[in-house]
Amino acid sequence: MPIDVAAEVVANRRLSDDYNVLALAAPAIARDAAPGQFVMVKAGAGFDPMLRRPFSVFEIVRDAGGAPTALTILSKRIGPSTRLIYDARPGDRMACLGPLGRPFSVVDPGSEAWMIAGGVGLAPFATLAETLRGRGVRCTLLYGARRAAELFYLDFFRALGVDLVVTTEDGSLGERARIVAPLERMLAARAPSAPLMLYACGPEGMLAATARTAMKYGRPCQVSVERVMGCGLGGCYSCVVPMRSGAAGFHHVRSCIAGPVLAADQVIWD
Ligand SMILES: Cc1cc2nc3c(=O)[nH]c(=O)nc-3n(C[C@H](O)[C@H](O)[C@H](O)COP(=O)(O)OP(=O)(O)OC[C@H]3O[C@@H](n4cnc5c(N)ncnc54)[C@H](O)[C@@H]3O)c2cc1C
Ligand code: FES
Repeated sequence: MPIDVAAEVVANRRLSDDYNVLALAAPAIARDAAPGQFVMVKAGAGFDPMLRRPFSVFEIVRDAGGAPTALTILSKRIGPSTRLIYDARPGDRMACLGPLGRPFSVVDPGSEAWMIAGGVGLAPFATLAETLRGRGVRCTLLYGARRAAELFYLDFFRALGVDLVVTTEDGSLGERARIVAPLERMLAARAPSAPLMLYACGPEGMLAATARTAMKYGRPCQVSVERVMGCGLGGCYSCVVPMRSGAAGFHHVRSCIAGPVLAADQVIWD
């Protein structure tokens, strides 16, 4: 059951001029959240913005005994809510509803896991990587951004024992490419018999390209889609995604309840 709390801001770490990590004291949500789930956050007290906005649960903050005390969100400033989240101060309160949505399905150590992140699409992969590594799954993070200064938490993933492949559009770190370029090469080089699960989150164009590449090599792929969401609870239909059904048919699902994690080969991308 999702829980709605007036969560206190306990920390706000600015990573750049646009990105920040906000810690919200919402232990009951943090305790129940599974990798890939999200929260709906109301950033200001007034009517602008009127609606809550969805954010992936980025990290679970724990006390010395391991009990969850807070969750964090990784936010990229693009409009009114994310501006308020960037400017938030410890002691502020934000309504926070969650955990919501269908999480990633986590593979066993018999399979490798590759996480493919574009920009702020990194957000669901911190908790996923912790869970996978905790099970002993070998993990690789393929992480692309516009420039080196927009690649965050690399040491966090390294410390977990996750292999890293990074790309930037301006070549300031890693290969100068979009992240699907190394993904395609790595898939081509991998024995088809070696089990592998792909997980992807990022801009829709990147997800579509990842889905096509995964299908070309016959690999299962779970994508976390980021549609505009009005309620996060299945009531407003602002978040629908077209999915395949039958031989040539399609139907729409509400990505806030059927997703945000969906099977890449079932989504109609065009
Ligand atoms: C399940 C889910 C998880 C998400 N997780 C994160 C996260 O961890 N970190 C993060 O920074 N963002 C995340 N987002 C996106 C985030 O919800 C939007 O950035 C946020 O709603 C913007 O709010 P705003 O008021 O600042 O800007 P708005 O005024 O709402 O939006 C500014 C502009 O961006 C467009 N826009 C808004 N949301 C989206 C979207 N989802 N896709 C494409 N365009 C959009 C609007 O149409 C508008 O043009 C997630 C979205 C979903 C659905
Ligand atoms: S966000 Fe309202 S139905 Fe999905």
